Amino acid sequence: MPRLLLTGANGFVGKILTGRLQQAGYEVVALGGTVSPVLGSADDYLSCDIRDAQALAQAVATARPTHVIHLAAISHVPTSFKDPLLTWQTNVIGSMNLLEAIKQQAPEAFTLFPSSSEVYGAAFKSGIAVTEDNLPAPLNPYAASKVAAEYAFREYFRQGLDGVIARPFNHIGAQQSADFVTASFARQIALIEDGQQAPVLKVGNLEAIRDFLDVQDVCDAYIELLKLKGSPDHPVCLNIASGQSRKIRDVLDLLLSQSSAQIIVEQDPDRLRPSDIPIAAGNSTLLKQTTGWQPAITLETTLSQLLHYWRAQVKTAN
Ligand code: GDD
Repeated sequence: MPRLLLTGANGFVGKILTGRLQQAGYEVVALGGTVSPVLGSADDYLSCDIRDAQALAQAVATARPTHVIHLAAISHVPTSFKDPLLTWQTNVIGSMNLLEAIKQQAPEAFTLFPSSSEVYGAAFKSGIAVTEDNLPAPLNPYAASKVAAEYAFREYFRQGLDGVIARPFNHIGAQQSADFVTASFARQIALIEDGQQAPVLKVGNLEAIRDFLDVQDVCDAYIELLKLKGSPDHPVCLNIASGQSRKIRDVLDLLLSQSSAQIIVEQDPDRLRPSDIPIAAGNSTLLKQTTGWQPAITLETTLSQLLHYWRAQVKTAN
């Protein structure tokens, strides 16, 4: 049975991906941080700080993986502006530590590194949906750290490790932290409906345009990409995009249309960023041609499930 080491297993994507991997026939060894709660559903559970090279090498040796997915990262763009050092230590040194550990302890393992569409940054300004041929031009510390980590992975792939880099666009769904835009809006709507928040919904930049995917569709893409293990000359880097970009204001309107509450929308200066990518549009042809992947869940369905999730959450928390 293939045995997969999943870093960042206790995060938003990690929790969902664990179950999906098990359904796909993988034994999952979940790696969480030293302060993360234990993830009950994994087959095995290890914990360490990925910035600690020795502890990580020990974890990889214990896990004996045939496959690795490296999700552990600082993934929130505003946090990366506030703490760039933590972001680089986690995203770049953490990745280096993992690559060394794989090279030493599990050199036959196939590694999937989920980078980010954020790496394209200024390249989005052309207005044409980016392909993997567009050069990265990061516009924030998070994106810069992901580009650096990508180069670390490319170097180890050049030396002989097998693996692939994915560049997913914004993926959303139940259980995502309210630090991110759709979860923040859905949570506030639920709080307002329940009388726990005054009827004022705080927002940041509503003019930005993003390509949103349901987290389940992104997990499907990751599982398809694992099948590239051992296939000769497979692509090294692939976008994961729906191909449909939406203005944040329109996403907010879709959520508001599902509520009968009277809600005032107000811009909160604290939610604006030192720089924000105005438009992100992606082309996923390479992924579709390589794996046959297609996104299956509409944004409307995802948003409706998200609101449903937050309505239940705010009731439980109260
Ligand atoms: N978080 C947040 N909160 N964003 C807001 C808000 C708000 O109240 N109002 C407007 N926005 C805008 C942001 O300025 C940004 O343009 C857009 O909504 C999306 O913000 P986020 O949900 O925070 O995501 P992100 O685009 O910065 O990054 C996400 O997607 C990347 C892939 O494209 C993260 O999940 C990254 O980790 C991921 O790599």
